[in-house]
Amino acid sequence: MTMRAVNERSLDEFWMPFTANRQFKAAPRLLASASGMHYRDTEGREVLDATAGLWCVAAGHGRPQIAEAVARQLGTLDYAPPFQMGHPVAFAFAERLAEVAPGGPGSTLDRIFFTNSGSESVDTALKIALAYQRAIGQGTRTRLIGREKGYHGVGFGGISVGGLVNNRRMFPLLPGTDHLRHTHDPGRNGFTRGLPEHGAELADDLERLIALHGAETIAAVIVEPVAGSAGVLVPPTGYLERLRAICDAHGILLIFDEVITGFGRLGAPFGVDYFGVRADLVTTAKALTNGALPMGAVFVDRRVHDAVIDGPAGIELFHGYTYSGHPAACAAGLATLDIYADEALLTRGAALAARWEDAVHSLAGLPHVVDIRTIGLMAGIDLAPRAGAPGVRAYELFVDCFETGMLVRATGDTIALSPPLIVSEAQIDEIAARLADALRRLA
Ligand SMILES: Cc1ncc(COP(=O)(O)O)c(C=O)c1O
Repeated sequence: MTMRAVNERSLDEFWMPFTANRQFKAAPRLLASASGMHYRDTEGREVLDATAGLWCVAAGHGRPQIAEAVARQLGTLDYAPPFQMGHPVAFAFAERLAEVAPGGPGSTLDRIFFTNSGSESVDTALKIALAYQRAIGQGTRTRLIGREKGYHGVGFGGISVGGLVNNRRMFPLLPGTDHLRHTHDPGRNGFTRGLPEHGAELADDLERLIALHGAETIAAVIVEPVAGSAGVLVPPTGYLERLRAICDAHGILLIFDEVITGFGRLGAPFGVDYFGVRADLVTTAKALTNGALPMGAVFVDRRVHDAVIDGPAGIELFHGYTYSGHPAACAAGLATLDIYADEALLTRGAALAARWEDAVHSLAGLPHVVDIRTIGLMAGIDLAPRAGAPGVRAYELFVDCFETGMLVRATGDTIALSPPLIVSEAQIDEIAARLADALRRLA
């Protein structure tokens, strides 16, 4: 297969993830640099970033503070083994994360396990849940419950509790998983601003699964507080509270996957804070380091941590990664937390949410738009699929937006938006105006 070369460089060797490789390499979109709210592509064109990279660049691109902290760290201590050894930066970062832990001051989600990605955070959280149940004498609890349309990364654990069929159908899955129904119901909850009104009763699916399997077989339930990758699906009012209550009544741990919602996306530091619903474990990655270096972190409730750590002498949890708490990633994370604090970014979305809502909902009524959902600084815009060609319309909109200077994300026939949290009001209006123009151009 011959692919177009860019600047004499072959595109053949890099097998791109979650990408239509042949289509991409025939007409590549290559980003060369980035600063603030903008990318620049290899042809020198400026591209407004309406997706914070891939939901991760919350403080905007090219922050010198982060680059300098990473360079300093690499010049001081490039790497230290994390097994039976430590280094001060990992402890410092964990301590700082505990101070901003989901739930605010006094939160008991203050024990931190470091990973390198959202997928690893998810698999780590699932394993910790199993270890906890075993540690408290509930070793029959091995079942893990996810939700339809959930995305929890691409590890075998994550795809097993995940609910996106294309990510699952080719691969063998963990035994003993089951799924709640998803909460997406545009028929009852069309064009929502914030939480949809209808659907809290869908949390009772957990009662149904308990009746089917027995509570004594269920270790944990994992959900995204707001499902991101499936197209920004916001939980109905009361849904998460109900899920929490059922978990409490039956000794089931509740894991919030906050890889997207963590660090300010909703206008509160975490989904736990936005919804006021406690979780036993919270998975994060992405904005943890502002996307500058790969890293994930699982916030673990002290009770869960202590139960596992208070076991027999020796290694308490046979789990971890060569790069858990990598010095450079921790340095990037510390600098990122400084920026979030200095610029109050973890709550900035709250002040902008109304403007965001109005701007995005102004697209209602434009060609092909069949639903819009907004919450914090996130939005999902559903387009009517083209007959016999699902996903093509949103993909074409994404390409049109890119070619005219804006990065959006297409997932199925949904356009997902999640600008960096530094976005200005004028840029919010620009995002909506550019989308409106692109929608009018779209066949
Ligand atoms: C909710 C959620 N969990 C897990 C992941 C996986 O993260 P990663 O791609 O870093 O493995 C993602 C990625 O988008 C996500 O949105």
